[in-house]
Amino acid sequence: MRLENKVAIITGAASGIGKATALRFAEEGAKVVIDDINVEAGAQLATEIIDNDGTAIFVPADVSAPGHVEQLMTETQLHFGTIDILVNNALCNTAHVLENNWDPIIDVALRGTDHCTKAAITAMQQNGGGSIINIASVNALIGLQSIHAYSAVKGAVVAYTKSMAVSHGRDNIRINCICPGTIQTEVWMPMVERNPNIFDDLLPWYPLGRIGQPIDIANAALFLASDEAAFATGSVLVIDGGLTAGLPQFPI
Ligand SMILES: NC(=O)c1ccc[n+]([C@@H]2O[C@H](COP(=O)([O-])OP(=O)(O)OC[C@H]3O[C@@H](n4cnc5c(N)ncnc54)[C@H](O)[C@@H]3O)[C@@H](O)[C@H]2O)c1
Repeated sequence: MRLENKVAIITGAASGIGKATALRFAEEGAKVVIDDINVEAGAQLATEIIDNDGTAIFVPADVSAPGHVEQLMTETQLHFGTIDILVNNALCNTAHVLENNWDPIIDVALRGTDHCTKAAITAMQQNGGGSIINIASVNALIGLQSIHAYSAVKGAVVAYTKSMAVSHGRDNIRINCICPGTIQTEVWMPMVERNPNIFDDLLPWYPLGRIGQPIDIANAALFLASDEAAFATGSVLVIDGGLTAGLPQFPI
């Protein structure tokens, strides 16, 4: 197993990419700490993992609140003694993203990432190392749609990843990020309500001819979390079905 006995915190793990990552990490032997503000879905996921012979706890912490993050780290260490892996995945609700509401986007996706990273680093320094994975977006790399605040925050997550990676390489803490393309999750529900064909309409932009599923990102996070990625830090892993590679519809 690729994460045997590793302790992994995943923020925003009750749904979508975070949920798939929690399930995948548990399959590979990790002790999973599910963090989310959705209490019902978070608790349900922990039960699902335990029922399948995995190890998990649910901690309902809001990553934008430093006191909650402290509690998340304390409970993790009380249960499992250490922190080996952190996946910063949480995102505020889609309405804020669509309306360019800077504060909630910054508070959850950027400050939340910073709160969790700093707290986990303190524990990882005591353990002799660890792996942190930040979920950014293709919006950090190319101009897309009209969601400027989200794009700017995800760009900041990429820069933050690199800056923290160079600061903590000597602590044996690897810090990488993933830039997913369109992944079919709850985040897209408001757009699906407006246009039920939205996923089909997106296909022409994807050289692989499909959009992504949460497991596509969970598998990438598994690689970065595992010892197979021992020489990777500060990297930006683009998992986007080819979206940012070029222009599939260029008319020549
Ligand atoms: N789905 C995509 O197309 C896509 C593409 C690129 C990047 N991403 C990124 O992937 C990550 C996960 O997105 P998803 O599509 O799985 O979304 P999702 O909505 O399915 O999951 C986000 C989770 O975060 C939780 N959350 C919200 N606020 C929180 C807080 N303050 N503290 C803790 N948890 C909180 C939500 O309850 C939810 O369970 C996000 O960072 C998103 O920006 C998604």
